[in-house]
Amino acid sequence: MRRLDGRTVILTGATGGLGSAIAKRLIAEGASVALTDVDVNACEKLADALGGDTLRLGLDVSDAQAWSAVVAAVHERWGAVHVLVNNAGIGSLGTVETETRERWDQVVEVDQLGTWLGMRQVGPVIERSGGGAIVNIASILGATGGLANSFSYAAAKGAVRSMTMNAALHWATRGVRVNAVVPAFIGTEPLLKRYGGTERHAAMLANTPMNRLGRPEEVAAAVAFLASDDSGYTTGSEIFVDGGWSAR
Ligand SMILES: NC(=O)c1ccc[n+]([C@@H]2O[C@H](COP(=O)([O-])OP(=O)(O)OC[C@H]3O[C@@H](n4cnc5c(N)ncnc54)[C@H](O)[C@@H]3O)[C@@H](O)[C@H]2O)c1
Repeated sequence: MRRLDGRTVILTGATGGLGSAIAKRLIAEGASVALTDVDVNACEKLADALGGDTLRLGLDVSDAQAWSAVVAAVHERWGAVHVLVNNAGIGSLGTVETETRERWDQVVEVDQLGTWLGMRQVGPVIERSGGGAIVNIASILGATGGLANSFSYAAAKGAVRSMTMNAALHWATRGVRVNAVVPAFIGTEPLLKRYGGTERHAAMLANTPMNRLGRPEEVAAAVAFLASDDSGYTTGSEIFVDGGWSAR
């Protein structure tokens, strides 16, 4: 059974390693998906490759006006929004000592502010559409000390988790469920290109009880569950897709 038949989704950062896997899974579940990303050309390519009922839209998640334009375009096309997946994100490698103010600002703008703007803009539309779900992509680095670096990223992703709980309570009786997926390191193509074979790659494995990186499809499956009515009694909650990392 397809769990998202007749449902419309806005997905951010759709063309990245996880975004494209999430898009594929949501389309397979029957959803109509607005594929959004700062990289519009990549959105075009992804939409052509995936097929299904999609919109391709440019969106910088840290730009409030751009959010308004996306919501208007989605409403015009489908007349409703049922699901928001706040997936867009950028990383950092600096430690508490070496992180720069410039990188801090960039990371917090995209990962933290972008998640808030998305919820603020789309949550009320989901409510007016008869209810649905917001799924925020956090990170194990925002839930643990991680590898003792990625400092601004850890701060922003920790905030994604607390914003998820706070927003969940706000909308609890109004049909808008808000949950987070908390992945550890997932072996996406971009991640493997960046870190494959490096010391960081070895540290990722060494800290993961399952001793392997996650698969993008394993994150997408958790997103599909939280987006669908199968998780109808779940809000303010988190699914750790982390190979056991948080159990250590
Ligand atoms: N891959 C992992 O191991 C992992 C682990 C934990 C959490 N995450 C989180 O999952 C999400 C997706 O990560 P990924 O691995 O696919 O990364 P990725 O770098 O492959 O993709 C990120 C996407 O976000 C887009 N993007 C960047 N800045 C943007 C902005 N301002 N507005 C809109 N889009 C923007 C990029 O164009 C890209 O398509 C991120 O939030 C990331 O922090 C990833």
